[in-house]
Amino acid sequence: MIIFENINKTYIKNQQHVHALNNINLHIDTGDIFGLIGWSGAGKSSLIRLVNQLEKPTSGTVYVNSVNVNTLDRAAQRQHKKKIGMIFQHFNLLESKTVAQNVAIPLILQGIDRNEITQRVDAMLSYVDLLGKKDSYPSQLSGGQKQRVGIARALITEPTILLCDEATSALDPQTTIAILKLLKQINNERKITILLVTHEMEVIASICNKVAVMEKGQVIEQGTVLDIFSAPQQDTTKKFVSTVLSPQIPEAILASLPQQENIYRLEFLGDSAKKPVVNELILKQLVEINILFGNMREISGVVLGSMFIQMNGSEDKIKLAVAFLKQKGVHIERGVV
Ligand SMILES: Nc1ncnc2c1ncn2[C@@H]1O[C@H](COP(=O)(O)OP(=O)(O)O)[C@@H](O)[C@H]1O
Ligand SMILES: [Mg+2]
Repeated sequence: MIIFENINKTYIKNQQHVHALNNINLHIDTGDIFGLIGWSGAGKSSLIRLVNQLEKPTSGTVYVNSVNVNTLDRAAQRQHKKKIGMIFQHFNLLESKTVAQNVAIPLILQGIDRNEITQRVDAMLSYVDLLGKKDSYPSQLSGGQKQRVGIARALITEPTILLCDEATSALDPQTTIAILKLLKQINNERKITILLVTHEMEVIASICNKVAVMEKGQVIEQGTVLDIFSAPQQDTTKKFVSTVLSPQIPEAILASLPQQENIYRLEFLGDSAKKPVVNELILKQLVEINILFGNMREISGVVLGSMFIQMNGSEDKIKLAVAFLKQKGVHIERGVV
C-alpha cells in the first residue's frame, strides 16, 4: 500500500518557486494498477518519484507498506528501494552494456554471486521474452524490446511495487498494447502493485483499476476507472474520457445529413449495452431509425459507450420511442453533443 498524505512539493529554480504538488492525498492499495493522468506539467512525475525517493516532499508524508519513507536511515533506504522497481519513457538503458548486463546491474550493486546473477537474469529475460537478445546492445533493439529490458531490470530485485513513468509514451500503438499486456500480467502473476503515470486515457482504460486525475499540482478527481469513465465530473476529466469514448458526433457525418432534426445520443452502460435495445426499437416500427455513429468500449469488464441516432416520425411516436429506450435503461439526450 502506498499513501500520500498532505503532500506539497516546491522546486526552487533561478530563485523562482514552482509549486509542483499541492496538498495531495491518495491511497494506492496493494494489488492496484493505479493510474495518474494529467497534462504535461501537472505534477505526475514529481508525485511518483516520491515513492522511491528520487524526490523528497517539501512537506507531507509518504507511507509505503505502512513505513514512513522520509524517516528511513541509509541502510533501511537501500532495503526500501529494492522493493520498488521503476520504468521510464526513454528506457534509461546503458548503451555500452548488453541486454543481460543492463538487467544485471541492480544485482551487481547488491553484491550477489555471479552464478546466481546469470541464473536470475536468464530467467527474467525469458519472462519478458528477450532471452534470444541477451547479448545484443540497446541500439540493436526496437522500442518495445528496450522497454522489455527496462521492465526486466526493474523486476530483477523482486519488487512489490512497480512505478511506470510514461512507460509507453515513446512506443507505437501496437507495441503499447503489448507492453500494457505484459504489465497486466506482471500485476496478476507476480502480485506487484503498479503505480503508473500517463497522459493517455487509453492506457488507463486498458489496464488500470483506479485512477486519479491531476491538474496544476492537485488531484482534481479520483475513483475506480469504471466510475470515472461512466460519470466524469470535472471538465479536464471529461476531456480525457472523451479521447477514448468520443461522445461527439463527427462533423463529417453531421454535414452529410439532409437535415439535422431529431438526433439523439444514447448512452449505454453495462447491462443496457449488452441488450439489443436499438434492434428492438427498430422492430417496433414506431419510427424510422437512422444509426449515425457509435462507439462502444469494454472498460473494467463493463461495456460503455454512446450511439447517435436520428429518428424520423411524428412527435408522438418519437416520444414513445424515447420512453421505450429510457425504460430499457438507456440514458438518452436530444442533440448532437
Ligand atoms: N527539478 C525541477 N526543478 C524545477 N522545476 C521542476 C523540476 N521538476 C519539475 N518541475 C516543475 O514542476 C511542475 C510539475 O512537473 P512534473 O512533475 O514533471 O509534471 P508532469 O510529470 O505531470 O509533466 C512543472 O511546472 C515542472 O516544470
Ligand atoms: Mg512527467
